[in-house]
Amino acid sequence: MDIDVSKYFKPNLNEARKRSRKDVSHDQFQLDEQLKTIGHGKKYLIDTYGCQANEADGETMAGILTLMGFEKTSQELEADIIIINTCAIRENAENRVWGELGRFKALKRENPDLILGVSGCMAQEENVVNRILKKFQHVDLVFGTHNIDQLPQYIQTAMFSKERVIEVFSQEGHIVENLPKTRNHSKKAWVNIMFGCDEFCTYCIVPYTRGKERSRLKEDVIQELIELKQLGYLEVTLLGQNVNAYGKDFKDNDYTFGDLLRDIDTIGIPRIRFTTSHPHDLDLKTMEAIRDCDTIMPFFHLPVQSGSSSVLKKMNRHYTKESYLEKLEQLRTIVPGISVTTDIIVGFPGETDDDFLDTLDLVEKAKFEGAFTFVYSPREGTPAAKFEDCLDPQIKKERLYKLNESINQGYLEGNQRFLDQVVDVLVDGPSKNNPEVLAGYSPHQKLINFKASEELVGTIVKVRITEVKTWFMIGELVS
Ligand code: 5AD
Ligand code: SF4
Repeated sequence: MDIDVSKYFKPNLNEARKRSRKDVSHDQFQLDEQLKTIGHGKKYLIDTYGCQANEADGETMAGILTLMGFEKTSQELEADIIIINTCAIRENAENRVWGELGRFKALKRENPDLILGVSGCMAQEENVVNRILKKFQHVDLVFGTHNIDQLPQYIQTAMFSKERVIEVFSQEGHIVENLPKTRNHSKKAWVNIMFGCDEFCTYCIVPYTRGKERSRLKEDVIQELIELKQLGYLEVTLLGQNVNAYGKDFKDNDYTFGDLLRDIDTIGIPRIRFTTSHPHDLDLKTMEAIRDCDTIMPFFHLPVQSGSSSVLKKMNRHYTKESYLEKLEQLRTIVPGISVTTDIIVGFPGETDDDFLDTLDLVEKAKFEGAFTFVYSPREGTPAAKFEDCLDPQIKKERLYKLNESINQGYLEGNQRFLDQVVDVLVDGPSKNNPEVLAGYSPHQKLINFKASEELVGTIVKVRITEVKTWFMIGELVS
């Protein structure tokens, strides 16, 4: 059967690549009275994949659904609405979603009233939406990253007109404030400070799926943090694809990320973190703010991606191996003892043995205390997907293995400096691997396990480190 797709708003990667000079409007979210009850007696389930930006979007969707009267469930069989909040960063993230969508066919057969939705970065890809339209007709709702605020209207249409809703915009226009949030943690919160990315690293799909860089107004960010402080939150992670570019899109002032950190420090939330950064935009003002502000944690995630200057050029990263190392040294001079982690891709098209050795050399010199490491995954629509890639997959795997060995060594050495030291730990809860002990993180973002009463969950306590492992440390409560 041919489907009439003319009524749908489908994404287009060529459109998404464009960067308009139009001003970003800052709008307020409002929910029509009549939509505040349509979820009564009904349940929702949101399944989020990928990065913290997606986690934060998932919390916003949960907030909107709660405001509409829906209740949360973790049981698929109980759910009246299921949203798969997808990630497009690598092929394996996408494959997991396709598997899940296939599995939901049976669920939909049993419960035809179930509304099945797809959101997130995959929804911004035209090939994905076309495949859903043709092969996954049990999906009722597809919406992208730019129009989460319109979820109530989409649900209303899907519920009452029994129509499929496909609405994905390629061009971002606005920032919506006042969005409700149902946060997953009562002491740690994500706060978006900006959206989108203008870097266009050649391997990366994010600038297409999340649109142009646009910063929230400082007043709006600060107001959200003041509210979180009043609610008793102890840690906030500021989010953006490239937080170091915060404020670059403001036309009437030169307020930047370093200024924002200093203003946020005065609010008094005990721990402020941020992610993620681009080395090319990391400036002195930011480093000095970390040095001067007690609430900004001594931890920096600074993705390097490769240690070979020639690969970095092909990746469009705007720095060299040497300039990255220089910036790192500057950061460590200004903030002594800061813990630095990174992201690295191996097997980028054309990566030679020498390029990879440069990466290993950089890892040794940079003394990273952890890294997310990946094998390059071609993303349709990005420039690198057209680069010739003749590297044997087995070699890519071996490179990843060697790289991880070296990273783990740095991880362990980074942890060793804390032996016998007393550190503050924000207690998350019982450890995942051993429910007998509590687990939490230190200011340097080190995972600490220690024995203590569960009453301490959600507080910051002092712990002496007694044993150091690669992935975590063991300690004892200091009374
Ligand atoms: N293949 C492999 N890894 C990728 N990343 C981004 N795009 C790709 C890709 N196409 C990695 C980068 C980035 C992290 C979030 O994901 O290392 O920093
Ligand atoms: Fe992707 Fe590069 Fe932007 Fe990070 S900085 S989101 S890797 S394009």
